[in-house]
Amino acid sequence: MIQLSPYSQLPDDVRQLLNDYIHAEFGHIPIVQETAWASPDWTILYKEGDTIVSFYNIIERYILMDGKSCKVAGINNVITPAAFRGQGYCTKLLNDTTSFIFDELRTDYALLLCADAMIPFYQRLGWYTVDSEVYFDQPSGRKRWAANIMLLSLHKPVAPATIDLQGTPW
Ligand SMILES: CC(C)(COP(=O)(O)OP(=O)(O)OC[C@H]1O[C@@H](n2cnc3c(N)ncnc32)[C@H](O)[C@@H]1OP(=O)(O)O)[C@@H](O)C(=O)NCCC(=O)NCCS
Repeated sequence: MIQLSPYSQLPDDVRQLLNDYIHAEFGHIPIVQETAWASPDWTILYKEGDTIVSFYNIIERYILMDGKSCKVAGINNVITPAAFRGQGYCTKLLNDTTSFIFDELRTDYALLLCADAMIPFYQRLGWYTVDSEVYFDQPSGRKRWAANIMLLSLHKPVAPATIDLQGTPW
């Protein structure tokens, strides 16, 4: 069963469990430690009974693509806990929630920042990479994102020269 929850309404024990998974997966990575990240607006849970078998977060944000304002669903902390991996849970979760992203949140694009190794996985789900210069905010000022950025479009793919996340990254 897929459960869509505003992040602010997640029960404390669930938020703690997800934070433990997130910390275990990404907490040791220097760029993760050194960066100020956006807070999620939504958490999307895939549950088998009471057990969370896959999840991710969404940040709703108006960004600039070549100076034009667009609404995006920023996707982050995509995790299937180790015991449940390789069974298609994440694929199903991402596929089954595209209508929430585009129809209910009324976004123009979904956008994620990811490691090289994960690109083929997201490409299989219809995402594409863009060569855009990507800028984001940090307490120390405006920065340029050095790694990959991927988009998912409801209609045709776009290739903006610059993207400004208009805030902290995710
Ligand atoms: C990536 C992840 C969410 C996939 O969840 P899942 O439920 O096992 O995904 P699915 O069963 O739908 O698909 C599995 C596919 O994911 C891809 N994949 C998983 N981990 C990968 C990795 N480290 N590098 C490259 N591809 C990977 C593979 O294509 C895999 O297919 P295979 O099982 O045939 O090898 C899960 O492995 C995970 O939580 N990893 C650690 C956190 C992470 O890296 N998240 C992604 C951040 S962008």
